[in-house]
Amino acid sequence: MVLIAPSILSADFANLEQEIKKIENFVELLHIDVMDGHYVPNLTIGYPVIKTLREKTNLFFTTHLMISNPEDFILEYISAGSNRLVLHSETCKHLHRTLNKIKENNIKAGLALNPSQGIESLNLEYTGELIDCITIMTVNPGFPAQSFINSGLKKIKSLKLLLEKLNLKHIKIEVDGGINAETAKLCKEAGADILVAGNFIYKSKDISKAIEELK
Ligand code: DX5
Ligand code: ZN
Repeated sequence: MVLIAPSILSADFANLEQEIKKIENFVELLHIDVMDGHYVPNLTIGYPVIKTLREKTNLFFTTHLMISNPEDFILEYISAGSNRLVLHSETCKHLHRTLNKIKENNIKAGLALNPSQGIESLNLEYTGELIDCITIMTVNPGFPAQSFINSGLKKIKSLKLLLEKLNLKHIKIEVDGGINAETAKLCKEAGADILVAGNFIYKSKDISKAIEELK
């Protein structure tokens, strides 16, 4: 069974509470894209907004940090109510320390891989015990509604094999970017556990049907 994580990047930012209510009964996870206009060429929301959303829903919050120096704000994103923080390892000076800090605060951590990055850059021998999820980006981070980059599929397959080899079966494989009914099927067949979808869900006329199609 694959889990669907709607991304609010494609939701109406002036009505986030209602936008979350639209999906709340059909999913367990919410994907929140934080962009700083520095690590990625776009700006979204930060921890103050996440904190207000936390009061509105019990959905599991995955906060995808596409920001430079996330280490400066880890505690703020945790206390805002994130349940998992997803980091891009190249944005962290001391990744091991930061992953430990997240773990000490009793929430989950994930690592994201950009389309140009291979699974070896995860250094799973040293990071694997500290994370519960790997996010394979199938678009370059920064914008919604981009086209799915196919090379992500072989990355999912290789990662699945590597996780088995290293006996890291607790780690879920998440795919983020360009997910629609067709690409969802391909990702699922390749071994994905969680599919993030923004545009396909929030721009569809029938949201529950869109989520059903992805499942
Ligand atoms: C891209 C974000 C994604 C984005 C996916 O930088 O990390 O989470 O919301 O959007 P879609 O599903 O529209 O490709
Ligand atoms: Zn994302």
